[in-house]
Amino acid sequence: MSDSAPAPVMSGPVLYYTPQVIEHFSHPRNVGELSAADTDGYACIGDPGCGDELKLWLHVDQGRISAIRFKTFGCPGAIATSSMLTALAAGATIPEALAISDDDVVKALGGIPENKQHCSLLGVKALQAALLDWSRRQTVAAGA
Ligand code: FES
Repeated sequence: MSDSAPAPVMSGPVLYYTPQVIEHFSHPRNVGELSAADTDGYACIGDPGCGDELKLWLHVDQGRISAIRFKTFGCPGAIATSSMLTALAAGATIPEALAISDDDVVKALGGIPENKQHCSLLGVKALQAALLDWSRRQTVAAGA
């Protein structure tokens, strides 16, 4: 094979964790908690099918997610997808954050094995629940 031969194109389902998944699992972004004073939205979501759990904290400033933290008790896929979700949501406006889908997280990680697809749902569900919590707190603060 000559040096100029094109790299083989991989097709079909992703069978293993991609380098991006391994990188986010090894060095997860935005791990930790926000203090109660800094928390504008919070959610704790679990997957009864596998027992994994994700806690997510948000701080919202002028309509944008200015800080986001998570703690995941789960598999490498759950940790990597939670990390990528927080990377996508950090700095997003509320409508942008609400629009982040499971597919966005999986694509940003270069794919995820078929039997791990459900792991990324944990992050998206937690983000939506934390945004709902933020919205409820806004309503309470407004005295409605
Ligand atoms: S196996 Fe449960 S979230 Fe990954």
